[in-house]
Amino acid sequence: MKKFESKIRPIEWVDTYCRMVDQTKFPEKYEYVDIKTGQQMFDAIKTMIVRGAPAIGIAGAQGVTLYAQELSKNNLSFEEYKKQLIERADYLVSSRPTAVNLYWAVEKQKEIINKYSTIDEIITNLRINGKEIELEDIAINEKIGEYGAMVVPKSATILTHCNAGALATGGYGTALGVVRSAYANDPTIQVFADETRPRQQGARITTLELVMDGIPVTLITDGMCSYFMKKGMIDMVVVGADRIAANGDAANKIGTYTVAIAAKYHNIPFYVAAPLSTIDRSINSGDEIVIEERSHEEVTVINGKRICPEGVNVINPGFDVTPHELITGIITEKGIARPDYKSSIEALFGDKV
Ligand code: MRU
Repeated sequence: MKKFESKIRPIEWVDTYCRMVDQTKFPEKYEYVDIKTGQQMFDAIKTMIVRGAPAIGIAGAQGVTLYAQELSKNNLSFEEYKKQLIERADYLVSSRPTAVNLYWAVEKQKEIINKYSTIDEIITNLRINGKEIELEDIAINEKIGEYGAMVVPKSATILTHCNAGALATGGYGTALGVVRSAYANDPTIQVFADETRPRQQGARITTLELVMDGIPVTLITDGMCSYFMKKGMIDMVVVGADRIAANGDAANKIGTYTVAIAAKYHNIPFYVAAPLSTIDRSINSGDEIVIEERSHEEVTVINGKRICPEGVNVINPGFDVTPHELITGIITEKGIARPDYKSSIEALFGDKV
């Protein structure tokens, strides 16, 4: 199986700070911003300078390191240092509630904080662990790509929603990792990208990274997917996930559920691609997933211009949950989980063989 070579790296730890691509500037600018304090990292996650579940996991881990460096300048006792650092780590998790990778990565850093007995050791090992989480994510996505490419039909047109690409991860991408690996082995495949209202991750980010990597992509608006499915122009759907429950229910960008229903109606395979760190086995079903409610301006304003009358009611949930019955398979770095998800997910975690 051939691997695709992609140079896109949206987030990297450099010595004592984090350098990331500012995703709010796409597609006009591809600019880096240096994040040097914990509060800057909180704001970068909240305002979506960095976004995508695995990428905000990496950001969260590196944000803890930034707080650890800052607090070390405050002449605190070791116990007080640890207490304040754990408080700030938990605060970072509150920046975006739905993607479990943020919580997962911060918990990994909290294990380091609790393991070491000097401030220097904590900082050194937080840096090492944050960098490892970043690099490991790329390797995981390449494995997801490899497994996923095996279920992509020859010359397929793959529909995706939002951006689950290199720019949503350490690199290579989950859903777009599947696309990259499939394309490396069959350059006749192509992508249809949903625009993804309200933040337009499909239009601004998925198309950008596929154009950068030379993979054919066609942009459609969100309401068009069933039209193209009925015409027989979509062969499979692959999307990412922000949190997957033990029963396989998967939270992803708002609008994913609609795509899944349309795919089921048209007998089109619907796959979710995500690392095991996106699977939250502490929850039994998607009903337990907290859905982030975002600013109303994301809906009422486009490119600085209001598109609806003042005084209108607005609701803006950032994510929805696709029930497991609509999911053909969950592509992970350890293989593809299939229904019944409860047992196949347990098997992937090595609980049962
Ligand atoms: O609000 P966003 O842009 O962070 O939402 C991103 C998504 O919903 C992605 O599909 C998901 O995080 C998977 S990224 C590999």
